[in-house]
Amino acid sequence: MTDKNSLQNVFVEKKAKQNYVREMFDAIAYRYDFLNHLLSFGLDFYWRWFAIRKLDLKGGEKIIDTACGTGDFSIMASKRNPSMIFGVDVSLNMLKIFRQKAMKKGIKKIHLVCASAENLPFKSEVFDVCLVAFGVRNFSDLETGLREIHRVLKNGGKIAVLEFSMPKQPFKLFYLFYFRRILPFIGKLFSKHENAYTYLPESVLRFPEGEEFAKILNNCGFKRIEIHRLTFGIVTLYIGVKN
Ligand SMILES: C[S@@+](CC[C@H](N)C(=O)[O-])C[C@H]1O[C@@H](n2cnc3c(N)ncnc32)[C@H](O)[C@@H]1O
Repeated sequence: MTDKNSLQNVFVEKKAKQNYVREMFDAIAYRYDFLNHLLSFGLDFYWRWFAIRKLDLKGGEKIIDTACGTGDFSIMASKRNPSMIFGVDVSLNMLKIFRQKAMKKGIKKIHLVCASAENLPFKSEVFDVCLVAFGVRNFSDLETGLREIHRVLKNGGKIAVLEFSMPKQPFKLFYLFYFRRILPFIGKLFSKHENAYTYLPESVLRFPEGEEFAKILNNCGFKRIEIHRLTFGIVTLYIGVKN
């Protein structure tokens, strides 16, 4: 991507960003779910539910959950009776928690792969649906990741991206206070990680949103892009179709 505020201008090289992000998620993995639900007031369940409803899954789909983390998106999608789900993430510790949760729930059709979105170890045109929740912002190379997802999707396959965005005034003022002051404080308190929850607002504030992100999806080959702003615009769902 070309945005001059992009994190890609902050990290010396793409590999450095990937290592930084992987180490950060490896370190906070054991606290990730707890903090995710606490800091979003449980709204993260609603955002994933909304995305899955909009995808209108009929059953039998082959799904890839890129940057799957601890797997909440895949676990929710598994209730729609897909034929298989592949969860892909760079953080082994996040995948370990995902595996424990899937085993506990007795979900057998989920396969986990430790790999990066920018270099997916799959053949072209094999998946019907790609899910990415709160992951694209962390890609070391956004366009490479999106083009890889495009490659592994079948023609007519769909991508659903959930990502944080900025609400409009007057809510924006309260939200920025929460996001810059309260969230990093609570995040650090519970995760004991120095930077993870300051990285979150910083990376969100720098990331392209709305029409700007839709344009990037379009450049990477996705068409008929839908933009749904959720919960006063603090999260946006993007759905795009391959061809
Ligand atoms: C904020 S978490 C989101 C996890 C999950 N999708 C959710 O909704 O809770 C971001 C995840 O993206 C993963 N990640 C970051 N960059 C990645 C990349 N380039 N390829 C694959 N996974 C990546 C991280 O390891 C982390 O697990």
